[in-house]
Amino acid sequence: MDERLREDFPIDWEEDGYVSRREFFKFMTVASGGLALGSLGLAAWSRGRREGISFEPKRIARLDALAPGSSLAFNFPRETDICLLVRRPDGALSAFSRRCTHLSCPVDYQADKDRLYCPCHNGAFSAEDGSVLQGPPPHPLPAITLEVRDGEVWATGVRHAKVRS
Ligand code: FES
Repeated sequence: MDERLREDFPIDWEEDGYVSRREFFKFMTVASGGLALGSLGLAAWSRGRREGISFEPKRIARLDALAPGSSLAFNFPRETDICLLVRRPDGALSAFSRRCTHLSCPVDYQADKDRLYCPCHNGAFSAEDGSVLQGPPPHPLPAITLEVRDGEVWATGVRHAKVRS
């Protein structure tokens, strides 16, 4: 240690940077526990997104009002969340967020190709599971979980597909 520095700053230099072994292990234990809890929380959150998050169910339309090969825009779970309900040519139902996972342009259903198309950069998604078919979108579209109750289609939750690495 520079003697001039010691004189200019008359503190107990021996104690200043001293960390006992016990303090070090205590810090490491707390830090490790925090990291482990954070990892568990992140894993649970990620699994929850894939398995689906439930929201208050919302009635979308009567099933018999949806012709095969048609689609219907709706908002779920919030009024600002734009979605698209699709009745595919074979009669199957599916629904997705309309926000393209590239830069959020709204996608539209193309019945002749049975896909959701984003005109901004020529992106396309499967109308069956929301997976990316072409273009720059990095992730599948989030799917809206549906239930048919007494002939009416209800949105019940949102499910994020597992992102392939
Ligand atoms: S915003 Fe949809 S492909 Fe770019």
